[in-house]
Amino acid sequence: MDLFEYQARDVFEKHGVPVLAGAVASTPEEARAAAERIGVASGGVTVVKAQVKAGGRGKAGGVKVAKTADEAEEHARAILGMDIKGHTVHEVMVAQGAQIDEEYYFSILLDRANRTYLAMCSKEGGMDIEQLAVERPEALARIAVDPNTGIDAAKAREIVEAAGFDAETAAKIEPVLQTLWTVYREEDATLVEVNPLVKTAAGDIVALDGKVSLDENAFFRQPEHAALEDNSETDPLEIAAREKDLNYVKLDGSVGIIGNGAGLVMSTLDVVAYAGEEFGGQKPANFLDIGGGASAEVMANGLHIILSDPQVKAVFVNVFGGITACDAVANGIVGALDSLGDEEDRPLVVRLDGNNVEEGRRILQERDHPRVIIEPTMDGAARKAAELASQN
Ligand SMILES: Nc1ncnc2c1ncn2[C@@H]1O[C@H](COP(=O)(O)OP(=O)(O)O)[C@@H](O)[C@H]1O
Ligand SMILES: [Mg+2]
Repeated sequence: MDLFEYQARDVFEKHGVPVLAGAVASTPEEARAAAERIGVASGGVTVVKAQVKAGGRGKAGGVKVAKTADEAEEHARAILGMDIKGHTVHEVMVAQGAQIDEEYYFSILLDRANRTYLAMCSKEGGMDIEQLAVERPEALARIAVDPNTGIDAAKAREIVEAAGFDAETAAKIEPVLQTLWTVYREEDATLVEVNPLVKTAAGDIVALDGKVSLDENAFFRQPEHAALEDNSETDPLEIAAREKDLNYVKLDGSVGIIGNGAGLVMSTLDVVAYAGEEFGGQKPANFLDIGGGASAEVMANGLHIILSDPQVKAVFVNVFGGITACDAVANGIVGALDSLGDEEDRPLVVRLDGNNVEEGRRILQERDHPRVIIEPTMDGAARKAAELASQN
């Protein structure tokens, strides 16, 4: 999960990385009020910055210096609503204006290929680090960071030396790099990037723009991270599914899919897409894994989510009973159908196999719902679901 710049700024501040004051605003009036407060410390000068999860905001016109609060309001009016690389700007950050002497670059990231972390650092930071990396790779130091020791004093020195800083600047930057490592480790980040890390006219080192990506696999031990989530661009069904602890991804097709186990669901998507070619290109409408040991309730929740998608014309329930017994799945289907009532008229193709399959099929047969079709094989069921979707 990527953070907005203002969230990265807050996280930096929490760990003691030097940052400038900044406040987020969603209207020009709020931006003005923020500029009146924040500008005091910098002779009235603030910088109005588009908050979108994309780089290159400066070049796109999303970062503007304001000499007065009036100007900040004007800039905010221009920037709010702007489109930057496909992202609409809903908020700006009003930041204290810095008097920049030099702009540097620093980042820590996960280096999967080498099974380690990587620190990158350059004396030439600013807007075009990607270009620098391609055109003059020697100007971008790359130093492997051992996860066990991280960036300690010695590693920080190694990094700044590789980047070629003079002794005086190096001494100022080293502790900042160590603190940024603390951010990386303690926040379970996969990326911490500061571009630019600046030296101000007064000689201070300040992180002026931060990009932080958090590892969602660590959310269970990072309770504060939930508050950083931004759902404005997430599909509403995905949000509803997450609230029910369901592993759901919205796709574009017409055949709703429920299965147990990510592997089975992935192959179900393939089989449905393949079978769907015969029926005018029917495709899966979603990925939904109800997991191992899923109860009747989980099955019912899953069906509700899938049937909330108007693009779905038919549903394919593909369960291989292991820990999840087929009778529980069948009860979940029956319960969901009952609660959906007669208005729900989209067909449900069910393929059950494995643990307690006889009992599962018996429950469905006994209920004898007109919209439920039991198919014995996965291929047959996929074909049936695609066919029904093409007819609806
Ligand atoms: N608070 C600030 N004070 C002065 N200049 C700034 C400030 N924030 C950004 N800038 C200038 O704007 C440039 C681009 O801003 P930045 O936040 O890095 O956005 P992006 O990387 O998305 O273009 C920076 O390289 C810096 O020169
Ligand atoms: Mg930047």
